[in-house]
Amino acid sequence: MQYRMVLGVAASLALGANAAPNPKITPAPAAAKKLALRDSVPASSGSSALSAPKTIAAGEAFDGGMFVYDRGVSCEGQSEGGDSDAVFQIENGGTLSNVIIGPNQMEGVHCQGACTLENVWWSAVCEDAFTIKSQEAGETTYIKGGGAFGADDKVLQHNGGGTLSVSDFTVETFGKLYRSCGNCKTMYERHVIMSGITATSGKQLAGINTNYGDTATFTNIAVSGVDDICVKYTGTDDNSQEPTENGSGADGTYCIYSESDISGDTSGSGSGSGSSAAASSSAKKTTSSGAAKSTSAKSSDDEEATSTSSSKKTSTAKSSSAKATATSSSTKKSSSSSTKTSSSSKATKDSDSDAKVEDRAFAGWFRW
Ligand SMILES: *[C@@H]1O[C@H](CO)[C@@H](O)[C@H](O)[C@H]1NC(C)=O
Repeated sequence: MQYRMVLGVAASLALGANAAPNPKITPAPAAAKKLALRDSVPASSGSSALSAPKTIAAGEAFDGGMFVYDRGVSCEGQSEGGDSDAVFQIENGGTLSNVIIGPNQMEGVHCQGACTLENVWWSAVCEDAFTIKSQEAGETTYIKGGGAFGADDKVLQHNGGGTLSVSDFTVETFGKLYRSCGNCKTMYERHVIMSGITATSGKQLAGINTNYGDTATFTNIAVSGVDDICVKYTGTDDNSQEPTENGSGADGTYCIYSESDISGDTSGSGSGSGSSAAASSSAKKTTSSGAAKSTSAKSSDDEEATSTSSSKKTSTAKSSSAKATATSSSTKKSSSSSTKTSSSSKATKDSDSDAKVEDRAFAGWFRW
């Protein structure tokens, strides 16, 4: 206890350096304290629940010393989200390093452009892990190292313009590792560069809007149980609409990679064909048959925001509030995991980071 308090004070002082207003740091709730990290998340030095988002000022850097940071609020059941729900808010040009974003939070990390994240881990993604809220066309945000686990839907959300470069990143149990906002009110040309990615049990590494000129470039990618490397959408700036899917796979223009850039299989949990990744332009699951698919799968590209592939989630998965928007989750993917639970009918929007995912079932998801 004493040790924890000392660490907490130290962290508080460190945090205070560039926080305005200075967030109060309180001991993390019991649940968070007991959070035993999954094998792949580094050991933590302690934990802190922030009473307000920790802001990293423009051009400043914050080294979290491998503390677990969260907000002391449960992901589930939260109906409102926004900047005030973030754990870290990085202003333009800021750097965040060596932190673990804990499970008791909603919005993860927000970035206002040209951010750098080094060795940042998300032990349990809530609505999404990281969002580029704004960014100029010529700017690049870097995510170097780190990883994210347990995302029902999106991990890295790109709402501003410019480029996101992700390298040496691990992701496990996720919907989309990256999504260029499909229906933000202001749309931009966006680019993502992925290099050195290890991805397990997910749907898409990247979803991009080709009608806005997005590109996704992949090198040195290892996948296991991932449906698609790169999915193309027709985005819209009408937030009441959902983007429509328009093909997937390498094309040399929008989805840029070759077979040698991808190792492993892209069979995913439900899409069946275990063919080589780059060849995924085949009939597999998509667009060639796109018209048919959209009937039950609805137009959103997030129709399966609920937990498909995660066999790790326990059967306690409750299907609480179906607050969200669109139609029911599709049937397209009957997960191989036998215990697939009562998925709710919720679905989230693709778009902004403010769309909420409420169906959470992390109880039992961690090792204690
Ligand atoms: C769908 O993709 C094709 C081939 O890339 C492209 O020519 C077409 O414009 C796209 N359709 C829409 C609606 O974006």
